[in-house]
Amino acid sequence: MSADDFRSNGYAVIDWIAEYLENPAAWPVLPALKPGDLRAQLPTAPPANPEEFAAIFADFEKLVVPATTHWNHPGFMAYFANSSTAAGILGEALAATLNVNAMLWRTGPAATELEQVTLDWLRQLLGLPDPLFGTINDTASSSTLYALAAARELHPELRIREEGMSARAELPRLTVYCSEEAHSSVAKAVMTLGLGLSNLRRIGTDAGMRMETRLLDEAIRRDRADGAFPLAVVATVGTTSTTAVDPVPAIASICEREKIWLHVDAAYAGSAAILPELRHILDGCERADSIVVNPHKWLFTPVDCSALFTRRPDLLRRAFQHTPDYLVVGDGDEAVNLMDYGVSLGRRFRALKLWFVLRHFGSDAIASLIRAHIALAGCLCRWIDGEPDWERMADAPFSTVVFRHRPPGMDAGALDAHNAAILERVNGKREVFLSHTRVRGAYALRIAIGNIQTDETHVRRAWELLRNEGSRTVY
Ligand SMILES: Cc1ncc(COP(=O)(O)O)c(C=O)c1O
Repeated sequence: MSADDFRSNGYAVIDWIAEYLENPAAWPVLPALKPGDLRAQLPTAPPANPEEFAAIFADFEKLVVPATTHWNHPGFMAYFANSSTAAGILGEALAATLNVNAMLWRTGPAATELEQVTLDWLRQLLGLPDPLFGTINDTASSSTLYALAAARELHPELRIREEGMSARAELPRLTVYCSEEAHSSVAKAVMTLGLGLSNLRRIGTDAGMRMETRLLDEAIRRDRADGAFPLAVVATVGTTSTTAVDPVPAIASICEREKIWLHVDAAYAGSAAILPELRHILDGCERADSIVVNPHKWLFTPVDCSALFTRRPDLLRRAFQHTPDYLVVGDGDEAVNLMDYGVSLGRRFRALKLWFVLRHFGSDAIASLIRAHIALAGCLCRWIDGEPDWERMADAPFSTVVFRHRPPGMDAGALDAHNAAILERVNGKREVFLSHTRVRGAYALRIAIGNIQTDETHVRRAWELLRNEGSRTVY
């Protein structure tokens, strides 16, 4: 593509993005699509000859966009809603342009150092202690996997790096602890690391869905008595289902006493610690060995961007450093080589978009945006609490509200089916996208406010649709 063609095609793309960001609600939040519909419209083999950019772009508009679930839509309130903001998009474009592969400091000095600087800014914004070493991964799932891999290296006498874990009769059973409400990424990490799901202890929770430290303590004692080797505890600040906050200070005390690695999963809610009034949600995290916060969830940064902080970069490196000859270079001890802190050799320049976002907004504006989301969730809570046939199923400390319609005379099974039907019908209108969860086994509706364009009109509309369908759906 010539520079002139690049300019004209690029301007067209930027124009499209600008229009899209101005009004993402021009598209339905959910596409009207069945699995396989898009594939059926696409050629099964790649083109042998070049195609005009205009034709490719036209297919993007005609085929791809209508087959997209629009996370940028202000009516997107499912899972943990997020935002791809203009500053982040431009940062991504420039990262793709520079196309550095920051495996070594030498192959990406700017990418490496900007990652350290940007994560140190984020650390300060979250009120986390100095020093704390940070790296950016694709997702919280990878960050948690890496944290648990580092936890194994806290005990070099286990010789896992050298000898692995199979066919070793002398190796004790290594156990990991998290609450019943912890994200499935903890289980996946345990599976991936060969620790085995049967060695993941899912600790019971209190009425607020927070890990019961008494039960954690008991489980660790029981495991030790049985000859097991408690390896790590994963506490959650902002659980996926109801955004509960585990009692990290008490968990940290247990981990310190027992010499167990403490990893904190604050993938969603961690960003809220930017608000001075919510700084306390990360209390105790200064004593954690590692903590994950996802700027791609609630910090207005495009997917993917997950920040893993650790007090023990030496152990993260011990878990992952393995350098072939061709990557041995003489840049000295000062040089951080990002390839040493995870599975992948190559690293994208992810810090660029986060740096753009943090500078473009500034921390005061970011705090105001998050505060506004929390206030919107507060409005929704009041509307729900004001209706006798609706009930909240959990506290809403952040921007996520979990609730259900509870008309009189329905048993538990009927209530589950009734609420599932409400959700199906509301989502079927493709104006808003909501998701569900289960609270102590009961089906619950869930609204998560996190998109930069979501305002009261969208939340009000979602509530109106739910109430309409609630009164209409009959069993
Ligand atoms: C608390 C928590 N941890 C981890 C994850 C996994 O995030 P990722 O998609 O970045 O792996 C999620 C996803 O929503 C989450 O809610």
